[in-house]
Amino acid sequence: MSKENLLMDVNDLSVTFGAGANTVEAVKNCSMTVHEGEPIGIVGESGSGKSTLARVLAGLQQPSAGKVLYRGENVFTGNKSYKNGFRNQVQMVFQDPYGSLNPQLTGLSAVSEAVRIHKKVGSDEAEAIALELLQQMGISRLDALKKPRQLSGGQRQRVSVARALSASPSVLLADEPTSAIDQSAQAQLLKLFQGLLGEGLAIVLVSHDLGVIRFLTKRVYVMKEGLFIESGDTETVFNDPQEEYTKLLLASIPGELGKAARAKLKKS
Ligand SMILES: Nc1ncnc2c1ncn2[C@@H]1O[C@H](COP(=O)(O)OP(=O)(O)O)[C@@H](O)[C@H]1O
Ligand SMILES: [Mg+2]
Repeated sequence: MSKENLLMDVNDLSVTFGAGANTVEAVKNCSMTVHEGEPIGIVGESGSGKSTLARVLAGLQQPSAGKVLYRGENVFTGNKSYKNGFRNQVQMVFQDPYGSLNPQLTGLSAVSEAVRIHKKVGSDEAEAIALELLQQMGISRLDALKKPRQLSGGQRQRVSVARALSASPSVLLADEPTSAIDQSAQAQLLKLFQGLLGEGLAIVLVSHDLGVIRFLTKRVYVMKEGLFIESGDTETVFNDPQEEYTKLLLASIPGELGKAARAKLKKS
């Protein structure tokens, strides 16, 4: 991977919440890179700091220390939370699309509104672009006219992705996007992500689900108590984990996927 296609360069990032005895060091000295079109995984058990890190990467939260460079430019300067234009480039989708979708708006309205803001086009054109985006996400015209509560979890998640894509981002940051949806909806969303990768979008997939990480990503960072304890080529980390924590995470995957890891753990 060359320097030219380096999108994000994260250096020694730390996030601390609270003060005194209540201090929580959610992210500790994490460094990572994201290149154009690259599928990156961040995996770790609940509370390990994944969402906090993701929010910083999306420019939604200031780090306590360290830097995030986007195409060589510092994202957080002075007391500005992010530089103009940066937020459009990195778009985030969350575990629970209920939280990010307005319950009063149809999917089409929600996506049209985002298109209008990002593309600075009139409402008719915005609606046409939105409908196309939704259809690319597998949402029919009929379903596009429904409100979030009338859609399935998987459909809501795909509306959220369409909304994120309306900004034409270079990086899609997905925080546990498959956690709240059923197996077939998960498979559908992951397929969709694969298609987006094929079009050159970089995806940072945050998940505690190693099966999902293995399916989609090429490089993975394993997070424990705010630290990246292991990272590398996803297949290498899965086939030959170096850290005990990674071995335990792998062994906890149900079924076939975790079987080899469980056998190895028994031997050691
Ligand atoms: N806004 C906040 N204020 C205080 N503590 C927080 C806040 N957000 C997260 N934390 C703490 O930071 C740690 C990491 O949380 P989080 O990033 O949500 O982890 P994960 O996404 O891996 O489950 C946890 O101990 C959590 O309680
Ligand atoms: Mg989280």
